[in-house]
Amino acid sequence: MSGWQRMLGAVLTGCMLGGMAAPVAAQPPRLEPLPAPATVKPALAKLGWHLFFEPRLSGDGSRSCASCHLPSRGYADGQPLSRGYNGTEYFRNAPGLLSVRLKNRLMWDGRLDGADLPTAVRDMVTEAHFMNADGRLIQERIRQIPELLALWREAFGAQSQPYGPQIFVAIAEFLKTLDGGDTLVDRVLRGDKVALPAAVREGMTVFSGKGQCIRCHNGVLGTDGKAYRLGVPEHPAIADEPLRMITLLRHHATMGVPNYMAERNDPGNYVVSKDPSDRGRFLTPALRGLTHTGPYMHNGMFATLDEVVAFHNQGGGPGSELQPLGLSTREQAALVAFLRAWSAPLRAMAEPPAYDYWVTGAAR
Ligand code: HEC
Ligand code: HEC
Repeated sequence: MSGWQRMLGAVLTGCMLGGMAAPVAAQPPRLEPLPAPATVKPALAKLGWHLFFEPRLSGDGSRSCASCHLPSRGYADGQPLSRGYNGTEYFRNAPGLLSVRLKNRLMWDGRLDGADLPTAVRDMVTEAHFMNADGRLIQERIRQIPELLALWREAFGAQSQPYGPQIFVAIAEFLKTLDGGDTLVDRVLRGDKVALPAAVREGMTVFSGKGQCIRCHNGVLGTDGKAYRLGVPEHPAIADEPLRMITLLRHHATMGVPNYMAERNDPGNYVVSKDPSDRGRFLTPALRGLTHTGPYMHNGMFATLDEVVAFHNQGGGPGSELQPLGLSTREQAALVAFLRAWSAPLRAMAEPPAYDYWVTGAAR
Protein backbone atom coordinates (compact mmCIF):
# COMPACT_ATOMS: atom_id res chain seq x y z
CA MET A 1 0.00 0.00 0.00
CA SER A 2 1.46 3.40 -0.92
CA GLY A 3 1.74 6.27 1.55
CA TRP A 4 -1.19 8.23 0.18
CA GLN A 5 -3.43 5.14 0.18
CA ARG A 6 -2.60 4.59 3.82
CA MET A 7 -3.40 8.23 4.56
CA LEU A 8 -6.72 8.07 2.73
CA GLY A 9 -7.54 4.89 4.68
CA ALA A 10 -6.78 6.70 7.93
CA VAL A 11 -8.95 9.69 6.94
CA LEU A 12 -11.88 7.43 6.05
CA THR A 13 -11.55 5.44 9.28
CA GLY A 14 -11.29 8.67 11.28
CA CYS A 15 -14.51 9.97 9.76
CA MET A 16 -16.34 6.73 10.41
CA LEU A 17 -15.24 6.68 14.04
CA GLY A 18 -16.48 10.23 14.38
CA GLY A 19 -19.92 9.06 13.23
CA MET A 20 -19.82 11.30 10.13
CA ALA A 21 -20.52 10.18 6.60
CA ALA A 22 -17.34 9.21 4.77
CA PRO A 23 -16.47 11.84 2.14
CA VAL A 24 -16.11 9.23 -0.60
CA ALA A 25 -18.58 6.35 -0.75
CA ALA A 26 -16.08 3.65 -1.64
CA GLN A 27 -18.67 0.89 -2.07
CA PRO A 28 -22.38 0.65 -1.47
CA PRO A 29 -23.04 -0.97 1.92
CA ARG A 30 -23.50 -4.72 1.76
CA LEU A 31 -23.96 -7.77 3.95
CA GLU A 32 -21.06 -10.10 4.58
CA PRO A 33 -20.90 -13.75 5.69
CA LEU A 34 -19.60 -14.74 9.12
CA PRO A 35 -15.79 -15.01 9.09
CA ALA A 36 -13.89 -18.04 10.42
CA PRO A 37 -14.09 -18.55 14.21
CA ALA A 38 -11.67 -16.52 16.33
CA THR A 39 -8.39 -18.14 17.30
CA VAL A 40 -8.41 -18.22 21.09
CA LYS A 41 -6.01 -19.48 23.74
CA PRO A 42 -7.85 -22.64 24.91
CA ALA A 43 -6.73 -22.58 28.57
CA LEU A 44 -7.62 -18.88 28.87
CA ALA A 45 -11.04 -19.35 27.23
CA LYS A 46 -11.73 -22.32 29.50
CA LEU A 47 -10.97 -20.22 32.57
CA GLY A 48 -13.20 -17.49 31.11
CA TRP A 49 -16.02 -20.00 30.65
CA HIS A 50 -15.84 -20.91 34.36
CA LEU A 51 -15.73 -17.26 35.37
CA PHE A 52 -18.68 -16.31 33.12
CA PHE A 53 -20.87 -18.64 35.21
CA GLU A 54 -19.23 -17.84 38.58
CA PRO A 55 -21.56 -15.93 40.97
CA ARG A 56 -18.67 -15.12 43.32
CA LEU A 57 -17.65 -12.51 40.75
CA SER A 58 -20.51 -10.36 42.12
CA GLY A 59 -20.25 -8.43 45.39
CA ASP A 60 -22.55 -10.68 47.43
CA GLY A 61 -22.06 -13.84 45.36
CA SER A 62 -25.65 -13.73 44.08
CA ARG A 63 -25.20 -13.50 40.32
CA SER A 64 -22.92 -14.22 37.40
CA CYS A 65 -22.72 -12.90 33.87
CA ALA A 66 -25.05 -15.75 32.91
CA SER A 67 -27.79 -14.36 35.21
CA CYS A 68 -28.38 -11.55 32.70
CA HIS A 69 -26.82 -13.10 29.56
CA LEU A 70 -28.59 -16.48 29.39
CA PRO A 71 -27.08 -19.02 26.95
CA SER A 72 -30.62 -20.28 26.18
CA ARG A 73 -31.60 -16.79 24.98
CA GLY A 74 -28.63 -16.02 22.77
CA TYR A 75 -27.01 -14.47 25.89
CA ALA A 76 -29.79 -11.89 26.29
CA ASP A 77 -32.29 -12.26 29.17
CA GLY A 78 -35.78 -12.20 27.64
CA GLN A 79 -36.83 -9.15 29.71
CA PRO A 80 -37.68 -5.77 28.16
CA LEU A 81 -35.46 -3.97 30.72
CA SER A 82 -32.58 -5.69 32.45
CA ARG A 83 -32.64 -6.23 36.16
CA GLY A 84 -29.80 -4.68 38.12
CA TYR A 85 -27.75 -5.76 41.08
CA ASN A 86 -29.73 -6.37 44.31
CA GLY A 87 -31.49 -3.15 45.28
CA THR A 88 -31.12 -1.67 41.79
CA GLU A 89 -32.85 -2.00 38.42
CA TYR A 90 -31.45 -1.11 35.00
CA PHE A 91 -33.03 1.10 32.33
CA ARG A 92 -32.07 -0.76 29.14
CA ASN A 93 -32.44 -4.14 27.51
CA ALA A 94 -29.60 -6.67 28.00
CA PRO A 95 -28.08 -7.31 24.55
CA GLY A 96 -27.29 -10.82 23.30
CA LEU A 97 -23.58 -11.67 23.13
CA LEU A 98 -23.44 -13.87 20.02
CA SER A 99 -20.60 -12.68 17.75
CA VAL A 100 -19.92 -9.82 20.16
CA ARG A 101 -16.22 -10.03 19.20
CA LEU A 102 -17.13 -8.53 15.80
CA LYS A 103 -18.85 -5.39 17.11
CA ASN A 104 -16.95 -2.14 16.69
CA ARG A 105 -18.90 -0.27 19.38
CA LEU A 106 -20.49 -1.66 22.54
CA MET A 107 -23.46 -0.77 24.73
CA TRP A 108 -26.68 0.73 23.38
CA ASP A 109 -25.25 4.24 23.61
CA GLY A 110 -21.96 3.19 21.98
CA ARG A 111 -19.88 4.25 24.99
CA LEU A 112 -17.23 1.54 24.62
CA ASP A 113 -14.86 0.42 21.88
CA GLY A 114 -15.62 -3.07 20.60
CA ALA A 115 -11.92 -3.84 20.22
CA ASP A 116 -11.59 -3.60 24.01
CA LEU A 117 -13.83 -6.36 25.35
CA PRO A 118 -11.95 -6.64 28.69
CA THR A 119 -13.02 -3.08 29.57
CA ALA A 120 -16.67 -3.97 28.90
CA VAL A 121 -16.25 -7.01 31.15
CA ARG A 122 -14.60 -4.88 33.85
CA ASP A 123 -17.53 -2.47 33.83
CA MET A 124 -19.99 -5.34 34.15
CA VAL A 125 -18.14 -6.69 37.19
CA THR A 126 -17.47 -3.40 38.93
CA GLU A 127 -20.53 -1.21 38.25
CA ALA A 128 -22.78 -0.91 41.31
CA HIS A 129 -25.86 -1.79 39.20
CA PHE A 130 -24.45 -4.88 37.45
CA MET A 131 -22.26 -7.04 39.72
CA ASN A 132 -20.94 -4.57 42.28
CA ALA A 133 -17.57 -6.23 42.87
CA ASP A 134 -14.00 -5.14 42.27
CA GLY A 135 -10.90 -6.78 40.90
CA ARG A 136 -9.10 -7.09 44.24
CA LEU A 137 -12.08 -8.74 45.92
CA ILE A 138 -12.65 -11.32 43.21
CA GLN A 139 -8.97 -12.11 42.70
CA GLU A 140 -8.82 -13.19 46.36
CA ARG A 141 -11.99 -15.25 45.99
CA ILE A 142 -10.53 -17.10 43.01
CA ARG A 143 -7.37 -17.78 45.02
CA GLN A 144 -9.47 -19.54 47.67
CA ILE A 145 -11.16 -21.93 45.20
CA PRO A 146 -8.64 -24.71 44.47
CA GLU A 147 -10.10 -25.79 41.11
CA LEU A 148 -10.27 -22.22 39.83
CA LEU A 149 -6.73 -21.55 41.03
CA ALA A 150 -5.59 -24.63 39.09
CA LEU A 151 -7.38 -23.39 35.96
CA TRP A 152 -5.82 -19.98 36.51
CA ARG A 153 -2.34 -21.49 36.56
CA GLU A 154 -3.03 -23.50 33.43
CA ALA A 155 -3.91 -20.25 31.70
CA PHE A 156 -1.32 -17.87 33.17
CA GLY A 157 1.53 -20.09 34.33
CA ALA A 158 2.38 -22.28 37.33
CA GLN A 159 3.65 -19.43 39.50
CA SER A 160 0.87 -16.96 38.65
CA GLN A 161 -1.60 -15.46 41.11
CA PRO A 162 -5.14 -14.34 40.25
CA TYR A 163 -5.08 -10.70 39.28
CA GLY A 164 -8.13 -8.49 38.62
CA PRO A 165 -7.40 -7.18 35.13
CA GLN A 166 -6.51 -10.67 33.90
CA ILE A 167 -9.89 -11.94 35.11
CA PHE A 168 -11.51 -9.56 32.60
CA VAL A 169 -9.12 -10.73 29.86
CA ALA A 170 -10.04 -14.38 30.50
CA ILE A 171 -13.79 -13.72 30.29
CA ALA A 172 -13.26 -11.66 27.13
CA GLU A 173 -11.40 -14.64 25.62
CA PHE A 174 -14.44 -16.81 26.34
CA LEU A 175 -16.76 -14.21 24.79
CA LYS A 176 -14.74 -14.45 21.56
CA THR A 177 -15.86 -18.08 21.19
CA LEU A 178 -19.58 -17.14 21.11
CA ASP A 179 -20.35 -16.95 17.42
CA GLY A 180 -23.86 -16.89 16.02
CA GLY A 181 -23.28 -19.86 13.71
CA ASP A 182 -23.70 -20.43 10.01
CA THR A 183 -27.11 -19.43 8.65
CA LEU A 184 -29.00 -19.76 5.39
CA VAL A 185 -28.19 -16.10 4.76
CA ASP A 186 -24.43 -16.74 5.17
CA ARG A 187 -24.61 -19.48 2.59
CA VAL A 188 -26.28 -17.17 0.09
CA LEU A 189 -23.72 -14.43 0.83
CA ARG A 190 -20.89 -16.89 0.21
CA GLY A 191 -22.41 -17.64 -3.17
CA ASP A 192 -23.52 -21.23 -2.39
CA LYS A 193 -26.38 -22.51 -4.49
CA VAL A 194 -29.11 -22.81 -1.85
CA ALA A 195 -32.81 -23.20 -2.37
CA LEU A 196 -34.10 -20.22 -0.40
CA PRO A 197 -37.75 -20.18 0.65
CA ALA A 198 -39.52 -17.59 -1.54
CA ALA A 199 -40.34 -15.29 1.41
CA VAL A 200 -36.69 -15.23 2.56
CA ARG A 201 -35.52 -14.38 -0.94
CA GLU A 202 -38.07 -11.60 -1.24
CA GLY A 203 -37.16 -10.32 2.23
CA MET A 204 -33.49 -10.17 1.28
CA THR A 205 -34.36 -8.08 -1.79
CA VAL A 206 -36.55 -5.69 0.23
CA PHE A 207 -33.83 -5.41 2.89
CA SER A 208 -31.28 -4.10 0.38
CA GLY A 209 -33.77 -2.29 -1.86
CA LYS A 210 -37.10 -0.70 -1.09
CA GLY A 211 -36.76 -1.17 2.68
CA GLN A 212 -33.36 0.62 2.79
CA CYS A 213 -32.46 -1.43 5.85
CA ILE A 214 -28.96 -1.94 4.51
CA ARG A 215 -28.17 1.76 4.90
CA CYS A 216 -27.66 1.18 8.62
CA HIS A 217 -27.79 -2.59 9.03
CA ASN A 218 -24.79 -3.80 7.00
CA GLY A 219 -21.49 -5.68 7.23
CA VAL A 220 -21.06 -9.02 8.96
CA LEU A 221 -23.47 -8.40 11.84
CA GLY A 222 -25.99 -6.09 10.21
CA THR A 223 -24.77 -2.97 11.99
CA ASP A 224 -22.77 0.02 10.82
CA GLY A 225 -21.68 0.77 14.39
CA LYS A 226 -23.30 4.22 14.33
CA ALA A 227 -26.17 5.70 16.32
CA TYR A 228 -29.55 6.92 15.01
CA ARG A 229 -32.80 8.26 16.42
CA LEU A 230 -35.78 6.10 15.57
CA GLY A 231 -38.17 7.65 18.09
CA VAL A 232 -38.81 4.40 19.95
CA PRO A 233 -41.32 5.22 22.74
CA GLU A 234 -39.84 5.59 26.22
CA HIS A 235 -40.38 2.56 28.43
CA PRO A 236 -42.91 3.72 31.07
CA ALA A 237 -41.11 1.80 33.85
CA ILE A 238 -38.21 4.26 33.75
CA ALA A 239 -40.43 7.11 34.90
CA ASP A 240 -42.60 4.88 37.10
CA GLU A 241 -39.99 2.86 38.98
CA PRO A 242 -37.61 4.93 41.15
CA LEU A 243 -34.92 2.22 41.11
CA ARG A 244 -34.66 2.50 37.31
CA MET A 245 -34.65 6.32 37.40
CA ILE A 246 -31.90 6.27 40.05
CA THR A 247 -29.67 4.09 37.81
CA LEU A 248 -30.39 6.27 34.78
CA LEU A 249 -29.45 9.47 36.65
CA ARG A 250 -26.38 7.81 38.10
CA HIS A 251 -25.33 6.82 34.58
CA HIS A 252 -25.69 10.44 33.45
CA ALA A 253 -23.63 11.64 36.41
CA THR A 254 -20.89 9.08 35.70
CA MET A 255 -20.75 10.10 32.05
CA GLY A 256 -20.46 13.79 32.97
CA VAL A 257 -23.74 14.92 31.41
CA PRO A 258 -24.31 18.64 32.06
CA ASN A 259 -27.37 19.38 34.19
CA TYR A 260 -27.98 15.66 34.38
CA MET A 261 -30.84 15.75 36.90
CA ALA A 262 -32.98 17.40 34.21
CA GLU A 263 -32.43 14.46 31.84
CA ARG A 264 -35.32 12.16 32.83
CA ASN A 265 -35.44 10.13 29.59
CA ASP A 266 -32.71 7.91 28.18
CA PRO A 267 -30.85 10.24 25.76
CA GLY A 268 -28.69 7.43 24.32
CA ASN A 269 -25.51 8.48 22.53
CA TYR A 270 -25.83 12.09 23.78
CA VAL A 271 -24.25 11.05 27.09
CA VAL A 272 -21.15 10.01 25.16
CA SER A 273 -20.84 12.91 22.69
CA LYS A 274 -22.61 15.67 24.73
CA ASP A 275 -23.83 16.89 21.32
CA PRO A 276 -27.56 17.72 21.63
CA SER A 277 -28.19 16.41 18.09
CA ASP A 278 -27.31 12.92 19.40
CA ARG A 279 -30.15 12.97 21.93
CA GLY A 280 -32.27 9.84 21.47
CA ARG A 281 -29.75 8.17 19.16
CA PHE A 282 -28.92 4.54 19.88
CA LEU A 283 -26.42 2.20 18.26
CA THR A 284 -27.72 0.24 15.27
CA PRO A 285 -28.12 -3.26 16.75
CA ALA A 286 -26.68 -6.39 15.15
CA LEU A 287 -29.32 -8.51 13.42
CA ARG A 288 -27.91 -12.01 13.84
CA GLY A 289 -29.62 -14.43 16.19
CA LEU A 290 -32.74 -12.29 16.65
CA THR A 291 -35.03 -15.32 17.03
CA HIS A 292 -33.35 -15.91 20.41
CA THR A 293 -32.95 -12.39 21.79
CA GLY A 294 -36.32 -10.61 21.98
CA PRO A 295 -37.81 -8.33 23.18
CA TYR A 296 -36.24 -5.74 20.89
CA MET A 297 -34.85 -2.19 20.84
CA HIS A 298 -32.74 -0.45 23.50
CA ASN A 299 -35.61 -0.63 25.97
CA GLY A 300 -37.34 -3.83 24.87
CA MET A 301 -40.45 -1.92 23.77
CA PHE A 302 -41.29 -4.36 20.97
CA ALA A 303 -42.01 -8.00 21.75
CA THR A 304 -41.92 -9.32 18.17
CA LEU A 305 -40.01 -8.81 14.94
CA ASP A 306 -43.32 -8.03 13.20
CA GLU A 307 -43.76 -5.01 15.49
CA VAL A 308 -40.17 -3.87 14.86
CA VAL A 309 -40.59 -4.07 11.08
CA ALA A 310 -44.00 -2.30 11.21
CA PHE A 311 -42.40 0.47 13.30
CA HIS A 312 -39.58 0.97 10.78
CA ASN A 313 -42.17 0.84 7.95
CA GLN A 314 -44.21 3.70 9.45
CA GLY A 315 -41.01 5.78 9.62
CA GLY A 316 -40.48 5.30 13.37
CA GLY A 317 -41.80 7.57 16.12
CA PRO A 318 -41.41 11.27 17.06
CA GLY A 319 -38.11 12.80 15.89
CA SER A 320 -37.19 9.71 13.86
CA GLU A 321 -34.47 9.78 11.21
CA LEU A 322 -36.37 7.12 9.21
CA GLN A 323 -38.76 7.84 6.31
CA PRO A 324 -42.07 5.98 5.94
CA LEU A 325 -41.47 3.08 3.56
CA GLY A 326 -44.91 2.13 2.30
CA LEU A 327 -44.14 -1.60 2.34
CA SER A 328 -47.04 -3.99 1.78
CA THR A 329 -48.05 -6.48 4.45
CA ARG A 330 -46.45 -9.16 2.32
CA GLU A 331 -43.14 -7.29 2.02
CA GLN A 332 -43.06 -6.75 5.79
CA ALA A 333 -43.70 -10.45 6.39
CA ALA A 334 -40.90 -11.25 3.93
CA LEU A 335 -38.50 -9.01 5.90
CA VAL A 336 -39.37 -10.92 9.07
CA ALA A 337 -38.78 -14.25 7.28
CA PHE A 338 -35.38 -12.96 6.12
CA LEU A 339 -34.42 -11.80 9.64
CA ARG A 340 -35.41 -15.21 11.02
CA ALA A 341 -33.26 -16.96 8.41
CA TRP A 342 -30.29 -14.95 9.76
CA SER A 343 -30.44 -16.92 13.05
CA ALA A 344 -28.84 -20.32 13.53
CA PRO A 345 -29.99 -22.83 16.18
CA LEU A 346 -28.18 -22.10 19.44
CA ARG A 347 -25.08 -24.12 20.18
CA ALA A 348 -25.51 -25.98 23.48
CA MET A 349 -23.47 -24.35 26.23
CA ALA A 350 -22.66 -26.59 29.18
CA GLU A 351 -22.48 -24.99 32.62
CA PRO A 352 -19.23 -25.61 34.47
CA PRO A 353 -19.36 -27.44 37.82
CA ALA A 354 -19.79 -25.25 40.93
CA TYR A 355 -16.68 -25.45 43.13
CA ASP A 356 -16.38 -24.76 46.85
CA TYR A 357 -13.94 -22.59 48.70
CA TRP A 358 -10.83 -24.22 50.13
CA VAL A 359 -12.13 -25.69 53.40
CA THR A 360 -9.41 -24.59 55.80
CA GLY A 361 -9.05 -21.16 54.19
CA ALA A 362 -5.27 -21.64 54.38
CA ALA A 363 -3.37 -19.09 52.32
CA ARG A 364 -1.44 -20.62 49.43
C1 HEC B 1 -27.48 -7.34 36.07
C2 HEC B 1 -27.48 -7.76 34.67
C3 HEC B 1 -26.15 -7.95 33.98
C4 HEC B 1 -25.07 -8.68 34.42
C5 HEC B 1 -24.91 -9.44 35.73
C6 HEC B 1 -24.10 -8.63 33.36
N1 HEC B 1 -24.58 -7.91 32.30
FE1 HEC B 1 -23.59 -7.51 30.58
N2 HEC B 1 -25.02 -6.21 30.06
C7 HEC B 1 -26.19 -5.96 30.76
C8 HEC B 1 -26.90 -4.84 30.14
C9 HEC B 1 -28.22 -4.27 30.60
C10 HEC B 1 -26.09 -4.39 29.09
C11 HEC B 1 -26.36 -3.20 28.18
C12 HEC B 1 -25.93 -1.92 28.91
C13 HEC B 1 -26.15 -0.63 28.11
O1 HEC B 1 -26.26 -0.69 26.88
O2 HEC B 1 -26.20 0.44 28.74
C14 HEC B 1 -24.94 -5.29 29.03
C15 HEC B 1 -23.94 -5.21 28.07
C16 HEC B 1 -22.89 -6.11 27.96
C17 HEC B 1 -21.93 -6.15 26.88
C18 HEC B 1 -21.94 -5.26 25.64
C19 HEC B 1 -22.76 -5.96 24.57
C20 HEC B 1 -23.10 -5.12 23.36
O3 HEC B 1 -23.53 -5.69 22.36
O4 HEC B 1 -22.95 -3.88 23.40
C21 HEC B 1 -21.05 -7.16 27.15
C22 HEC B 1 -19.87 -7.60 26.31
C23 HEC B 1 -21.46 -7.75 28.40
N3 HEC B 1 -22.59 -7.09 28.86
C24 HEC B 1 -20.84 -8.83 29.01
C25 HEC B 1 -21.09 -9.21 30.33
C26 HEC B 1 -20.22 -10.07 31.10
C27 HEC B 1 -18.97 -10.76 30.58
C28 HEC B 1 -20.74 -10.15 32.35
C29 HEC B 1 -20.16 -10.83 33.56
C30 HEC B 1 -18.85 -10.33 33.98
C31 HEC B 1 -21.99 -9.37 32.33
N4 HEC B 1 -22.14 -8.80 31.10
C32 HEC B 1 -22.85 -9.25 33.42
C33 HEC B 1 -26.63 -6.66 31.85
C34 HEC B 1 -25.82 -7.46 32.65
C1 HEC C 1 -31.34 4.96 9.89
C2 HEC C 1 -30.77 3.68 10.29
C3 HEC C 1 -31.67 2.46 10.25
C4 HEC C 1 -32.39 1.94 9.18
C5 HEC C 1 -32.48 2.50 7.77
C6 HEC C 1 -33.03 0.74 9.67
N1 HEC C 1 -32.73 0.54 10.98
FE1 HEC C 1 -33.31 -1.01 12.14
N2 HEC C 1 -32.57 -0.11 13.77
C7 HEC C 1 -31.80 1.04 13.77
C8 HEC C 1 -31.55 1.45 15.14
C9 HEC C 1 -30.75 2.68 15.55
C10 HEC C 1 -32.19 0.53 15.95
C11 HEC C 1 -32.27 0.58 17.49
C12 HEC C 1 -33.21 1.70 17.90
C13 HEC C 1 -33.45 1.85 19.37
O1 HEC C 1 -33.34 0.88 20.12
O2 HEC C 1 -33.79 2.98 19.78
C14 HEC C 1 -32.79 -0.47 15.06
C15 HEC C 1 -33.43 -1.64 15.48
C16 HEC C 1 -33.78 -2.68 14.65
C17 HEC C 1 -34.18 -4.01 15.07
C18 HEC C 1 -34.22 -4.51 16.52
C19 HEC C 1 -33.00 -5.35 16.84
C20 HEC C 1 -32.79 -5.61 18.31
O3 HEC C 1 -31.95 -6.46 18.65
O4 HEC C 1 -33.43 -4.97 19.15
C21 HEC C 1 -34.49 -4.72 13.94
C22 HEC C 1 -34.99 -6.14 13.87
C23 HEC C 1 -34.29 -3.83 12.83
N3 HEC C 1 -33.84 -2.60 13.27
C24 HEC C 1 -34.55 -4.15 11.49
C25 HEC C 1 -34.56 -3.21 10.46
C26 HEC C 1 -35.14 -3.45 9.18
C27 HEC C 1 -35.80 -4.73 8.75
C28 HEC C 1 -34.96 -2.30 8.45
C29 HEC C 1 -35.47 -1.99 7.06
C30 HEC C 1 -36.92 -2.00 6.93
C31 HEC C 1 -34.25 -1.36 9.29
N4 HEC C 1 -34.04 -1.94 10.51
C32 HEC C 1 -33.84 -0.09 8.90
C33 HEC C 1 -31.37 1.73 12.65
C34 HEC C 1 -31.90 1.57 11.39
